[in-house]
Amino acid sequence: MERTLSIIKPDGVARGLIGEVIRRFEKNGIRIVGMKMLWMTREQARGFYAVHRERPFFDSLTKFMSSGPVVVMVLEGENVIEKNRRLMGATDPSKAAEGTIRRDFATEIEKNVVHGSDAPETAAFEIGYFFNRFEIVA
Ligand code: CMP
Repeated sequence: MERTLSIIKPDGVARGLIGEVIRRFEKNGIRIVGMKMLWMTREQARGFYAVHRERPFFDSLTKFMSSGPVVVMVLEGENVIEKNRRLMGATDPSKAAEGTIRRDFATEIEKNVVHGSDAPETAAFEIGYFFNRFEIVA
């Protein structure tokens, strides 16, 4: 059993896509074991995306991620990191496969509706960034 962190980004929340994203997770056998809504400060967004701090899009990305509320979730299931990435589609919506969340709802690489951890190590860091052990149901 594996866990991963999912974020419905400010664009997804503002556009009323929370239910749609959750529906896709549940329909695909992914279990939600932690969930909350929060509004990140710029500093919290910088900390979360620290691996990208040298990238040209870092300032814009952290500004966007702290521009409104997000929904953060801990997802659980077999191979759930990869499964969630398949449901999301490629980071760039124009390259995302048919039927994926980003292909269906996103129009630009930054405001791409959802985030998902890309590996077990990043999942552990990202889950720990937002959730303590009492906030994750066993
Ligand atoms: P996410 O999966 O949250 O990881 C990093 C985020 O940076 C990415 O989704 C996009 O929202 C954003 N981003 C903006 N520009 C780029 C880019 N050129 N390459 C990758 N990610 C980008």
